[in-house]
Amino acid sequence: MRRELDAVERALESWVPSDAPAGLGQAMRYGVLDGGKRLRPLLVIAACEAVDGLREAALRAAVAVELIHAYSLVHDDMPCMDNDVLRRGKPTVHVQYGEAQAMLAGDAMQALAFEILTPDDGVPPALQARLCSLLARSAGHAGMAGGQAIDLASIGVSLDEAALRDMHRRKTGALLQASVMMGAACGPASAAALQALADYGAAIGLAFQVVDDILDVTQASETLGKTAGKDLHHNKPTYVSVLGLSAARRHAAELRDQAHAALARSGLSHAAHLSVLADKVVERES
Ligand code: IPE
Ligand code: IPE
Ligand code: MG
Ligand code: MG
Ligand code: MG
Repeated sequence: MRRELDAVERALESWVPSDAPAGLGQAMRYGVLDGGKRLRPLLVIAACEAVDGLREAALRAAVAVELIHAYSLVHDDMPCMDNDVLRRGKPTVHVQYGEAQAMLAGDAMQALAFEILTPDDGVPPALQARLCSLLARSAGHAGMAGGQAIDLASIGVSLDEAALRDMHRRKTGALLQASVMMGAACGPASAAALQALADYGAAIGLAFQVVDDILDVTQASETLGKTAGKDLHHNKPTYVSVLGLSAARRHAAELRDQAHAALARSGLSHAAHLSVLADKVVERES
């Protein structure tokens, strides 16, 4: 996986432009390079490996997903949203470059993701279309953006567990599940295997945000590279505020078990890296 991480870093380095007008390229590169766990790209590549898929397509999908994720973080941190000053161990993009440039950097990163998914050659057109569709659906109104809208509408509101789950599945889970499905789209897979991978993606996608909620209260800002304790400060409903810390931890472990069970029934013989990544989602400390 270290080799794959290097390939993703090199691709981001060469595809995110430095020469976009009026300093926009600098703001884009600042927001996406040099930081981040790159979990979504690793999921894309591990899922592609599980179906013995087309590597060039998976690398493009990996970079595209990371660009959408990084854009979502740039906007999430802006004063009109979570108003955060620290991200990936550095001042946030709007602190460094101003709000307007941060907004535009996010916009441009989103468009660049789809540009990278649609090269002139190297990836069959039908696969390009499939990858664009999976990414657009997960990032848009029904997925990440919709979930972020619920998040902002839920400040100071007490959600029940079902409503919280729905928000988390959209704002964070959708893009993680799409990472898995984009990797899986790069090769042949039976309907049963695809359903199992969708179940795996749903489980780790929700687990990821449950753990994000836990880490917000258990870790220090230095470890997280972002401000700790923000959820309580902003009065946001989270798995910790709704279930309590130990039930939230138990739930994350249950979701990890569900992810492993889904892999076991996928019938895929090269799913070892997906299995490791499920553990990493739950056991991570930042
Ligand atoms: C943080 O995501 C935001 C959420 C969706 C919870 P990550 O924890 O993957 O952030 P990076 O990419 O490693 O910075
Ligand atoms: C962010 O959730 C989800 C996104 C779509 C970016 P959070 O607001 O909890 O993420 P952090 O804690 O700031 O990384
Ligand atoms: Mg947020
Ligand atoms: Mg935030
Ligand atoms: Mg958080």
